Amino acid sequence: MYKTMRSQELYEKLCKVIPGGVNSPVRAWKGMGQPPMVVESGVKDCVYDVEGNKYLDFCGSWGALIHGHAHPQILDAVQKRMAKGTTFGITSGIEEQLASKVVGLIDSVEKVRFVCSGTEATMSAVRLTRGFTGRKIVVKFNGNYHGHADFFLVNAGSGVMELSSTSSSAGIPDEVVQHVVSLPYNDIDTTRQYLQTHEVAAVILEPIAGNMGVVPAKKEFIEMLRNETEKQGALLIFDEVISGFRVALKGAQSLYHVKPDLTCFGKVIGGGFPVAAFGGRKEVMDFLAPEGPVYQAGTLAGNPLAMEAGYQALSMLERDGFYEELKRKTNIITEPVRNFIKDKNLDLCVQQVGSMFTIFFSRKEVNNQEEAKTLDLEKFAEFFRYMYANGVYIPPSQHEAWFVSQAHEEEHLESTRDLVLEFIDRSA
Ligand SMILES: Cc1ncc(COP(=O)(O)O)c(C=O)c1O
Repeated sequence: MYKTMRSQELYEKLCKVIPGGVNSPVRAWKGMGQPPMVVESGVKDCVYDVEGNKYLDFCGSWGALIHGHAHPQILDAVQKRMAKGTTFGITSGIEEQLASKVVGLIDSVEKVRFVCSGTEATMSAVRLTRGFTGRKIVVKFNGNYHGHADFFLVNAGSGVMELSSTSSSAGIPDEVVQHVVSLPYNDIDTTRQYLQTHEVAAVILEPIAGNMGVVPAKKEFIEMLRNETEKQGALLIFDEVISGFRVALKGAQSLYHVKPDLTCFGKVIGGGFPVAAFGGRKEVMDFLAPEGPVYQAGTLAGNPLAMEAGYQALSMLERDGFYEELKRKTNIITEPVRNFIKDKNLDLCVQQVGSMFTIFFSRKEVNNQEEAKTLDLEKFAEFFRYMYANGVYIPPSQHEAWFVSQAHEEEHLESTRDLVLEFIDRSA
């Protein structure tokens, strides 16, 4: 059994000076019946807590670490750049390099702007669509999470999903969310009818939802959204903060063969540093200040160390066969688990796109937030504790995705698979 005294002591100290002891709520592991880890370091596919206990990491900083922890190529490049200074608030050449990389890789993106978090990216993208169209209404979908800007916290996913069902946070006046409508995900008829009867500025969605667990949008749903927004003069925003550069080099949009007007990126794009971005059609992007009338800014936006990390991370993704290899590794866990569930006809399912997946307890399929709310959270918490006690750290919520990185070693994937099977078998 692992010793965790020091983690617990430190966590208690943290709680005295930081609300809930954490700087982002899901890190508190609420509902898991287990005090959270206090981490010391990470190497490849492992993290080490302050006591020196080692855990296989399937959270990977919530999907950011597609190359694993402390990748030498990223560290070397950042260290070299750091020696030249850490921030300038002046434009630097590395911003052009990363921007050109993004524009070169993502077909729908002609221009891009960098920010420091996914929240900033989605918030700014929405402002831009409202400025560009001169309209107010934004359509989002239940169980999708677009960061913590006021107007997005209506039926949101991720950490807020387990808080309450409608307005997802206190402190947000009704007036702020009055022009935001949250509709059921994957519901073609309801959404089409709404778009045909309202003047909508933008529709924003996670094309592969990760924040109620992995729930991909149906192809016909995305196609309807593209056709209908185009017809009605609304803009379509893909929030690819998770899926961008994760499910494929060219993102979820390349899997659906659909070009959104704007795309938001985060996580993988920063190579482990605080980078996010939004980009898209040139005529829309040029509505941003200083070219256009929509204001958006950031002291540390385009920070050279973060840009360097992002540039190195994206460059490594371009290696031939990178995504095939990642999927093959992920399948080491998911295929046997799926087969086991099928053979025994269990009330469980594994939903996966490439290297992200969720094992859902007590349903054979999850298509939207309404279904995700009926999952067995107690059983998941038991599963989480079992994995953790055996040295495997998975995302501490049923409504999140596991992420496999290029650094995951096969034998670690195999031992994790065996643990999952053992748990499922025992509790079937
Ligand atoms: C799809 C999606 N959009 C936006 C965000 C917000 O990003 P950040 O936490 O960097 O503000 C997240 C965060 O998990 C996300 O998953």
